[in-house]
Amino acid sequence: MADGVATVSPDGKSMTNPLRAGLQTDRISDPCSVVFFGASGDLFKRMLLPAMYMLRVSGILPNDFAIVGFSRTEYTDDQFRDYCKEQLDIFAPDDAKPQGAVWEDFAKRLSYIGADFDDHNCYAKLAQRLRDNDEHLGTKGNRLFYLSTPPSLFPVIIDHLREADLNPHEGQAGWARIIVEKPFGTDLESARALQTTVDRVFPESAVYRIDHYLGKEPVQDIMALRFANTIFEPVWNRNYVDSVQITAAEQIGVELRGGYYDNAGALRDMIQNHVMNLLALVAMEPPASRDADAIRAEKAKVLSAIMPPDIGDVWEMSARGQYGPGTIDGKAVPGYRQEPDVNPQSNTDTYAAVKLFIDNWRWAGVPFYLRSGKRLAKKTSEIAVTFKPIPHRIYGETTDTIEPNVLVMKIQPEEGVTMRFSAKVPGPKSHIRSVFMDFNYGTGFGVQSPPAYERLIGDAMRGDQTLFTRWDAVERAWEIVMPVLQVWLNTKDFTFPNYAAGSQGPESATKLFPGWRTL
Ligand code: BG6
Repeated sequence: MADGVATVSPDGKSMTNPLRAGLQTDRISDPCSVVFFGASGDLFKRMLLPAMYMLRVSGILPNDFAIVGFSRTEYTDDQFRDYCKEQLDIFAPDDAKPQGAVWEDFAKRLSYIGADFDDHNCYAKLAQRLRDNDEHLGTKGNRLFYLSTPPSLFPVIIDHLREADLNPHEGQAGWARIIVEKPFGTDLESARALQTTVDRVFPESAVYRIDHYLGKEPVQDIMALRFANTIFEPVWNRNYVDSVQITAAEQIGVELRGGYYDNAGALRDMIQNHVMNLLALVAMEPPASRDADAIRAEKAKVLSAIMPPDIGDVWEMSARGQYGPGTIDGKAVPGYRQEPDVNPQSNTDTYAAVKLFIDNWRWAGVPFYLRSGKRLAKKTSEIAVTFKPIPHRIYGETTDTIEPNVLVMKIQPEEGVTMRFSAKVPGPKSHIRSVFMDFNYGTGFGVQSPPAYERLIGDAMRGDQTLFTRWDAVERAWEIVMPVLQVWLNTKDFTFPNYAAGSQGPESATKLFPGWRTL
């Protein structure tokens, strides 16, 4: 067996894969306290707590760490520990259920403050708790604050942190950083207002705006594919690329988040942040290094080259949809307007598609199509780069269609890269058919990708901002979607619902771009 080739033993169970040797985990060196605002909420129990516990189990957390929950529900420290154990029993992966010495050590580092977010006494209590952690748990004055409350509370919490002297300031013993969950604002104006508050209290170097898509391994691999290979960059431009389509399709509906979603919609919930980040990674210029700011500057630069659509062009450049009742995996499911906490006459988009152009030398004239929707036929997130047709056909004797090359970066549920190219069908005639070259992370590297939150919380604890969105990029992403948002909000769509749950999406999206890949 040649070096570097993956092997699977004949029983199909154990794997020997030399590529795994490269998958090292870095231990975080700084001790610290992590404060979760909104610790009795859904995100904490499903994602954040399991991510912290996995970081512990895999030996990535420093020995001296502490977790403080800060939320409205009243718990004593012991009740909070019991609550965390129950949630980990449900949501932690099977090989990281809370038990034994690891859990006991983890539990003793958990504490809780039942709080009124408006009451400065609660923040004074938090400051005292953090000092206690420094003294008894060795956290050395380092603090990471995680805002996972409803966004309306972000400014309140941030201002109180400053009043309680918990923000970065002269003479403090350690560092203070803040992770801000999405959505960062609900439109351009509110995003700017939030940024003004953040800016008063935390310098940009201490702000970690989370976009969990950036924590997904295949998303990080977009840069590796482009900048750790020589063969893609020469063709990665308007001379060879015909169009780029970016899809973030979901099968799930709004579930129990109707209250939030009905005021958001797909454009704000997915396109402005997750999909725009994918666009930036696929279209940016090569950064000079892997330094966080070198990368983030390139991402902001390419977004600044995207011209927001003119108000008058919005209908030509976009398509919106809302799902009606339909069938998913053979099961009847309700329409959006029948979901809990959704207005029965709602005008909210559960599907959004936009066509954008990047006005620079590399991409002038190449359309970038972005789409995202709920209750579609399949869960798929991917970026497909379609190359131009061949310039001259020598296979004139056959009528076979020669399809253009397509490179697909598959983000989920499959994780990998696929290249479509043409090949000759064996036989005396020159028949041409499309074939595929496939790379799959699971088999290629022999490990599961770590969940995004684990990676991102770990990076914030290390002080690495690479996978977090800088303010200039967030602001530009809002500027790009604002004309579409304004027109959509001001125009009632009388055709809603205009796609059935479980379908490919609305007809209007096919009119916008007939070349969407089938879900
Ligand atoms: C969140 C959105 O940011 O991303 C949700 O608010 C959406 O509406 C989710 O379901 C999708 O994330 P993923 O990782 O399942 O693609």
